[in-house]
Amino acid sequence: MSSVVPRLVGELTVGHVAGIIAACVVIIRFLCPAVITYVLAGLLRDTETASTWTVASAGLQKSVWPTILRTDSAGSGGAARTLIRVTCTAFPLMALLCAITGVVTPLGLGEEPATLPARAGTFEYITDDSAYGLGTSIRGRHSPSRLCPGEHLNRLAPLGTCPYSNTEVVYVDAPDGDGFSVELPKGYDTSIPDEARDIFSSGTGRSTVSNFFDIEWRQVSSEVSPNRGDEEVSVGMFRPLESSILDNKYKVIEGLIVDAINGGIGFRNHTVPAGLSRGAYWEEDILFVEPSTACVNTNLTLDFGISPVRNAESNDHIADLVLTDRGGFSQMNTTLPPLLVLNGQAEPELQQRAYKSAWLNNALTMVYLNVTNEKDKPRQGMKSFSYMDSVVGKEFPMPHSSTDDYDVLRLSTVFGNYLRLGLSSSGSVSGGRNYSNPFNISESDFDAISTICAGTVSANPVNITNIYVGCGLLRGAPRRTDGGPLLQFESGSKWSSPLHACASSLRATIKTVRFQSNSTGLVPLQVLSITPKTYAADEEADAPLWGLEDWGLRLNNFSPIWGLVSPEYATRKNVTTVRKPDFHLIGTPDNGLTLEGGLQDNLAGASFAQFAMNTVYRTVGDVGGNWPIDLRGAASLSVFQRWQNLSQDAATAGAIINLMWTDVAASAVVGTRGVLGEGNSGTKPAGEILVQPIGSRITFDARYGVPAAILLAWLGVIMLAALLCTCCCGGRAGFQTLRRRIEQLSVGRVFTTFLFPQESTLTMPAKQWRVSNGPKIVTVDVVARRAGEEPMYARNEQEGGDTYGLIDWRKR
Ligand SMILES: *[C@@H]1O[C@H](CO)[C@@H](O)[C@H](O)[C@H]1NC(C)=O
Ligand SMILES: *[C@@H]1O[C@H](CO)[C@@H](O)[C@H](O)[C@H]1NC(C)=O
Ligand SMILES: *[C@@H]1O[C@H](CO)[C@@H](O)[C@H](O)[C@H]1NC(C)=O
Ligand SMILES: *[C@@H]1O[C@H](CO)[C@@H](O)[C@H](O)[C@H]1NC(C)=O
Ligand SMILES: *[C@@H]1O[C@H](CO)[C@@H](O)[C@H](O)[C@H]1NC(C)=O
Ligand SMILES: *[C@@H]1O[C@H](CO)[C@@H](O)[C@H](O)[C@H]1NC(C)=O
Ligand SMILES: *[C@@H]1O[C@H](CO)[C@@H](O)[C@H](O)[C@H]1NC(C)=O
Ligand SMILES: *[C@@H]1O[C@H](CO)[C@@H](O)[C@H](O)[C@H]1NC(C)=O
Repeated sequence: MSSVVPRLVGELTVGHVAGIIAACVVIIRFLCPAVITYVLAGLLRDTETASTWTVASAGLQKSVWPTILRTDSAGSGGAARTLIRVTCTAFPLMALLCAITGVVTPLGLGEEPATLPARAGTFEYITDDSAYGLGTSIRGRHSPSRLCPGEHLNRLAPLGTCPYSNTEVVYVDAPDGDGFSVELPKGYDTSIPDEARDIFSSGTGRSTVSNFFDIEWRQVSSEVSPNRGDEEVSVGMFRPLESSILDNKYKVIEGLIVDAINGGIGFRNHTVPAGLSRGAYWEEDILFVEPSTACVNTNLTLDFGISPVRNAESNDHIADLVLTDRGGFSQMNTTLPPLLVLNGQAEPELQQRAYKSAWLNNALTMVYLNVTNEKDKPRQGMKSFSYMDSVVGKEFPMPHSSTDDYDVLRLSTVFGNYLRLGLSSSGSVSGGRNYSNPFNISESDFDAISTICAGTVSANPVNITNIYVGCGLLRGAPRRTDGGPLLQFESGSKWSSPLHACASSLRATIKTVRFQSNSTGLVPLQVLSITPKTYAADEEADAPLWGLEDWGLRLNNFSPIWGLVSPEYATRKNVTTVRKPDFHLIGTPDNGLTLEGGLQDNLAGASFAQFAMNTVYRTVGDVGGNWPIDLRGAASLSVFQRWQNLSQDAATAGAIINLMWTDVAASAVVGTRGVLGEGNSGTKPAGEILVQPIGSRITFDARYGVPAAILLAWLGVIMLAALLCTCCCGGRAGFQTLRRRIEQLSVGRVFTTFLFPQESTLTMPAKQWRVSNGPKIVTVDVVARRAGEEPMYARNEQEGGDTYGLIDWRKR
């Protein structure tokens, strides 16, 4: 609602302007007749025809002058009958009220955006000028390609025959029996067989939901490699482009919708409805791939101080690094967590996996530090946890070197990495203590934690239950504990980093996205909300059907095709299906493949999500990788601060990994399907998409309607009075009476009736009067008299003032 008094010109609404115009009109409405009357009074001579007097009188008496000059007809005081006087006061009051109403009423008018009824939209592609747009290869120059590793004599071979493909791969054993070579008699066909395409794009039809083949690497190139048959193959390329970590909103970039709030990317080649001046609202179902992470606090912290001198050995400022027991040792639940029941697609059980990882991490660390003992070793028969040499707050000095980056966040697949077990011999390490390690805990014991948590290893077969789960130890961004400024590493300051065990899975799901386009603004497309698509109560029948290639190959290097399939393919051989709202992607972190390690073919959907998660756990979050954008908070204090806040609580720490994954994945892939269909190259929308154009609605602030309401009420009263007068005043009101009264009071007629009583009466018809009396000349000065007659009056000396005694010339 508009403010009562607009403070600035900038705040003027159309209503205000209309009010101002009305005010000007009101002023002119009073001023013009006044000026004209002023001129009229000047034009009027003492001697005029009777008609002229009548006409001039009407003009003069109607103007504001009688009121201003307080002449007779202004009517206050005097002997005017009260009822008549009151009735006559109504005229100026009414005029005033009308003027006020005319000015005030439009001030209440306003305009607000409103949605118009939905209609089918025509969409057009919009380009992205950001780094993502520039970093996207031109489409259509490379077709999807696929290379599959093979297996021979239980060993991984660089090449094998891909599912549905006819490529012939021959393994020739080396003569000395050691190893084998690969021969390709007819070359290697990297194209995707039609059968695979048909099956795994069958579930989306012409909808806006992307299928597997609509996911492409953002950057594509080609490569010739001798061990792939010397053929030129299209390969994806990865280049980190930008970061969305600090945006904390839904973003629209070339080919993707980025959920920088919860993590996740949706595939869409962006289009907006064309030809709508104010834009529109609409909804689409979009395929999303999103990470999901659970973290469990180990209840251990790594505490350190900042030393004023750089440590000569370890080349860092970290001093007095200790592992502090915050309950992780002394208050540990010594019951071994139950075996992980892995139920594949049903539920990734991330919380359980993370808890087990944290528990194992703590247990192994305790045994290493001789805080407690392992079962049976070295003294036979001794139960595990038979002693507990720690209390809450107990500190264990830890070794460190500059490469450990204790002043930033770190994510690693290596549990117990703070012990530096594999690295303890390296020279630049300082601090720490020679722990006796009575139970010979080694790096490989810790290494097993990731594998237990993931539940899969490379040798496992590709099937729908072997879902990808990445696991690692998250060392949160340190928080200052001595009360100083939270972002300054001052010498002498004290810091503490929490340690969380985290497990992440990846899933594909369909979400309903609400868009707003804005053809007037610089940002023409905005995502208003992203909500999981709702299915009928009978989820079994309504949810999408997800399929997976199932050829009994191993997870090693083989990334299977997955996607929405139509029910007729559900019984196909070597296609496993599951009907669920979401599909957990298949894979193992065990293969260690990252985006930065080089991509070998051009089939993004098969591996991008898993590779991106590996990239987060192994390079970007760990050593920083060759990632030009700071995702650990090493350079950007804004990122550091965001991580500091999210690190404190295990419940929020998972968001760190989800957001890092989103950043990596957004740089890696695009969705090519838009409203215009596959490749976004059609001209007709994929199915009819209804858009609600944004229009405007007129609003009215009721407060400004008060004068108009009063006016209406008054009008009602007057009409009622007129009605009462007509029917109940004994016929005294009526058009006849009205005509008579007007004629009786027209000045020319009054003059002629008194000056020429034989020819004029006050009641004769107007037409007749105009003909017979209108042209008569009447002089009006001190008194009215016939033209040419001498004034016949005598000054009334006794009474003084401007009164005269009229001498009747007829009596003289
Ligand atoms: C750490 O403490 C929290 C809260 O008491 C608990 O939920 C969690 O399981 C503990 N972590 C471990 C590894 O025991
Ligand atoms: C300890 O862990 C076991 C297994 O995870 C669980 O059943 C038990 O309830 C836990 N005890 C406490 C006190 O939390
Ligand atoms: C640990 O032991 C090694 C060899 O026994 C020794 O060189 C090193 O100084 C010791 N470190 C500490 C911190 O005591
Ligand atoms: C380990 O701790 C136990 C209990 O405190 C103690 O008896 C034992 O000697 C310690 N072992 C070593 C190698 O320090
Ligand atoms: C630990 O390993 C060392 C050498 O690898 C070996 O001599 C020692 O016996 C082992 N101790 C235990 C308790 O297994
Ligand atoms: C639309 O454009 C206007 C003017 O540039 C801007 O103020 C508004 O925030 C934009 N809205 C959206 C949804 O982009
Ligand atoms: C399906 O995969 C199996 C291996 O699990 C393979 O032996 C079989 O030939 C495949 N079926 C078809 C129809 O290709
Ligand atoms: C999106 O569609 C447009 C128009 O068909 C095309 O030029 C562009 O390359 C597509 N972008 C992506 C990422 O597929």
